[in-house]
Amino acid sequence: MPRTVIRGGLVITAAEETHADVLIEDEKIVALAASDSECARGWSADRIIDATGKYVIPGGVDPHTHMEMPFGGTFAADTFETGTRAAAWGGTTTIVDFAIQTKGHALREGLDAWHLKAGGNCAIDYGFHMILSDVDQGSLKEMDLLVEEGVTSFKLFMAYPGVFYSDDGQILRAMQRGAHNGGLIMMHAENGIAIDVLVEQALAEGRTDPRYHGEVRKALLESEATHRAIQLARVAGAPLYVVHVSAEEAVAELTQARDKGLPVFGETCPQYLFLSTDNLAEPDFEGAKYVCSTPLRPREHQAALWRGLRTNDLQVVSTDHCPFCFSGQKELGRGDFSKIPNGMPGVEHRMDLLHQAVVDGHISRRRWIEIACATPARMFGLYPKKGTIAPGADADVVIYDPGAEQTLSVETHHMNVDYSAYEGKQITGQVRTVLSRGTTVIDQREYTGRAGHGRYVPRATCQYLS
Ligand code: URP
Ligand code: ZN
Ligand code: ZN
Repeated sequence: MPRTVIRGGLVITAAEETHADVLIEDEKIVALAASDSECARGWSADRIIDATGKYVIPGGVDPHTHMEMPFGGTFAADTFETGTRAAAWGGTTTIVDFAIQTKGHALREGLDAWHLKAGGNCAIDYGFHMILSDVDQGSLKEMDLLVEEGVTSFKLFMAYPGVFYSDDGQILRAMQRGAHNGGLIMMHAENGIAIDVLVEQALAEGRTDPRYHGEVRKALLESEATHRAIQLARVAGAPLYVVHVSAEEAVAELTQARDKGLPVFGETCPQYLFLSTDNLAEPDFEGAKYVCSTPLRPREHQAALWRGLRTNDLQVVSTDHCPFCFSGQKELGRGDFSKIPNGMPGVEHRMDLLHQAVVDGHISRRRWIEIACATPARMFGLYPKKGTIAPGADADVVIYDPGAEQTLSVETHHMNVDYSAYEGKQITGQVRTVLSRGTTVIDQREYTGRAGHGRYVPRATCQYLS
């Protein structure tokens, strides 16, 4: 059984920071011991990784990606192969992607289709949530079966009427089912019916540029939907996880619910923390690069998101990675912002951007690991296999250089998309080496992984509820 020792680094988990050596046997972490202790010095190894001056952190867990997602007549540009390779470059070793139920079809069909796309192609481990596009008696029953086989979370949309939208009755039924079978409802909280009225009015008045995407998808329509989702979850006696929270007013709804002790959780994404409506307003249709939903908000909302992350009113930072090339994909919406495919690239940059947040003083090092590794793992039933460095955990480990300087750019990123949302942004900190279940997939900034190394991981139910 191959043995690896990672020597001399600062091991950071959500719970503590210690100068420790890490012993790995085959795919698992088997021991930690103080660096230079007799115990650690006594370890024999086939391979020693010198982490002196570096951080040793758990591989990132990104619980919100959309590889190859069909949207707006096209497909997200990253396949499972390219997207998971890019994730590995950025220090993420597990993704949870969204399988989609097509209207009129069974959940099983959608799940099978996503297994086919991902199987044999991933560089890192992966699991699935299920998007419910058609809540009826059949899909409600199927939810039970999916929970039993490790698909333990279900996304519903209050937005996109005619596509993914569920009405309040369908939402209530799905929540009731989740309360019964342990499935966690993940909510895209925007009032899509009202938004569609504003879209129609904007287009009729000739307001067609990308920036109007942000103007019609009002913060109040995010907070209204968030409030409604929380009340429906209370009625159902179900927990709730609100995805891609971007508006200060929506954070306030989550805070109020959590202050009441309700099992309500929230996620935000780097694009809402670092970008704003200024980007959506970039000239020459460049704003299309930043079209996603919920939309980017005015810069002033960012303080509330950072505060929410510090106070634990927001618990997770995911990427909502859903990349569309500017050329040929985002361009579908020239002259009509509502036809711009919604989504942004980001799976490669989450760990770095959040390390930058540590450098900038927004969060502590341990909170970085908590919101990017440990909590997503617990939220989606993967802990402590994923999300921490401890005996028994999978050896998903990142050697992170906190002092390296890098510039984010389309020229150097590995995502299959023709622009960077962070072009020219300077970051302090960079991934050096990445192990996925003990296998080196990035070795001192060289890709050594392979498509097919990544395994499907069935998940337990949310670990904040038992
Ligand atoms: O704009 C986004 N977020 N696209 C991906 C689909 C979703 O709603 O998460
Ligand atoms: Zn969404
Ligand atoms: Zn999404």
